Amino acid sequence: MWLPASMTENLKETNMCAGSRQWTCAFFNLAEKTKGENSVFLNRNRDERTVKSRKSTIGKNAGDFERLPNHVAIIMDGNGRWAKSHRLSIPTGHRQGTENLREIIRHTDELGISALSLYAFSTENWSRPKEEVEALMQLILDFFASEIDDLDAKNVRILILGDKSRLPAKQRDTLVEAETRTAGNTGLRLNIAINYGGRDEIARAAREIAMEAVDGRIQPEQISEQTIADHLYTRGQPDVDLLIRTSGEMRLSNFLLFQCAYAEFLFPKTLWPDFSVRLYDEALSAFGNRNRRFGART
Ligand code: FPP
Repeated sequence: MWLPASMTENLKETNMCAGSRQWTCAFFNLAEKTKGENSVFLNRNRDERTVKSRKSTIGKNAGDFERLPNHVAIIMDGNGRWAKSHRLSIPTGHRQGTENLREIIRHTDELGISALSLYAFSTENWSRPKEEVEALMQLILDFFASEIDDLDAKNVRILILGDKSRLPAKQRDTLVEAETRTAGNTGLRLNIAINYGGRDEIARAAREIAMEAVDGRIQPEQISEQTIADHLYTRGQPDVDLLIRTSGEMRLSNFLLFQCAYAEFLFPKTLWPDFSVRLYDEALSAFGNRNRRFGART
């Protein structure tokens, strides 16, 4: 099959999907150029403006995005395998993965995407070796120490998804401080999931709603999907439109279970530390080519 040089290069580097779907992925850029009739222009919730198209200025695949997701969620998988393949320690892999975050966050902000959710530490990650857990906890401190001024200056609002009460005091204080400091910001909603589990989040919402019912503040028959959404950590934010999990694993791993009900999924094989802004652009272009029907026949 003949493909223009630029596209075969994309295919090699992107390797976005498993098996036969790789060919579909080679057409990300082509599809983007054809700009489908199904385009729904981005409604940028964060400032009530509608943005018709955004231009990525980063990377040689820079292009216009006719339709961008409102909310992107990323499972940053593959730090361990990246470290092993470079004969480095697992903590070094996580550190390298954190380096990636700056650019991905900055790019998400520049594109005007409303919300970005990152899975940094799950409720299950406590069972990893002690040194690895400690390294991840240290990375949390380092990340906020180096990024908070810039994020705040960029009007980014930080929200921690997860139960902070089980975290060491230093980490807890740092996270609360970041949330408090940026609470009034109106730009990108940056959600960082730490000690987070999707089922736990839903169970917590159920407990809160049950308490309201016991107190007579809500009647059981009034409980709707919206009621549950309003009791999640992400209350007030749009549902996830695009979920990206790097490293080729194709699982949700308890991340944003409720919010991902109609998300489009992409599973690039690239390990997280190698997931560049250019590959991110490719994923965003691929999202624009998805025909989202939300159960309807359109
Ligand atoms: C999964 O890779 C990754 C994690 C469990 C941690 C992700 C965390 C970061 C990128 C940095 C921390 C973030 C902040 C905001 C400070 P893995 O270790 O499971 O990879 P493997 O499957 O190849 O072993």
